[in-house]
Amino acid sequence: MISPKTAKLLSVGGFFKVKLLKTVDSTNDFLKALPQNEAREGLVVVADEQTRGKGRLSRKFYSPKGGLYFSVLLRPNSQEVLSKLTVLAGVCVCDAVRKVCGDDASIKWVNDVLIGDKKCSGILVETTENLKGFAIVGIGVNIGDDNIDDSLKDIACGVTDRGKNTRFELLAEILENLKARYADFNATSVVEEYKSRCSTLGRRVKVLRNDGQEYFAIAKDVGADCRLKIEKSDGSTEFLDSGEIKILIS
Ligand code: BTN
Repeated sequence: MISPKTAKLLSVGGFFKVKLLKTVDSTNDFLKALPQNEAREGLVVVADEQTRGKGRLSRKFYSPKGGLYFSVLLRPNSQEVLSKLTVLAGVCVCDAVRKVCGDDASIKWVNDVLIGDKKCSGILVETTENLKGFAIVGIGVNIGDDNIDDSLKDIACGVTDRGKNTRFELLAEILENLKARYADFNATSVVEEYKSRCSTLGRRVKVLRNDGQEYFAIAKDVGADCRLKIEKSDGSTEFLDSGEIKILIS
């Protein structure tokens, strides 16, 4: 049940139109399947549960009832904005979790939101051939620890459940944050905000390349292009692109 306050917030300045679904395979795939003539910037699809929630690198995103799963359709006006949507969304989710749930959230490069070293939220930005000019920003947030699958309990957690409205209060806050940063887009400040919340920086990480190479390094910086600068044990530096690697905080 959405409270009147939340319902008002969900309209966030008239920019977002929110559609609520009970069960869907994936909210990202739901938006991807829209015909171009039904695509509108600001359309938001929220599902109570997903049967085939997706993460980056073809991973599954476990999406049982109780969590927050939604996708937002945007029409970025430049390649620059498109390329920053993942980090922009990370900042918006991190801040919303801190404010609504009171958790000490941070960002793990590139698209995970953590509490401590456990993941509470993931972000998947996609484009699709049949929706030209649009981008889909998919966000999943685990709420409370009760719905975390036993097999994931060592690496995943939920944000603090503040009662029956947590899900929609979080959604409203994330959308409000998103609207503010997207409408008044500034690449430099988005990257700076991202870096100040990024708990990967300064940490020892294990880099797992798609080609099978694995090595340890120290995460040093996030560049203006959002690549992660690492320093390897021989002192050499490298910039990592999110599409090519997984990193584990060691
Ligand atoms: C990741 O952890 O790599 C990204 C997870 C993104 C999950 C969200 S839930 C809503 C939207 N629909 C999906 O199928 N995925 C995203």
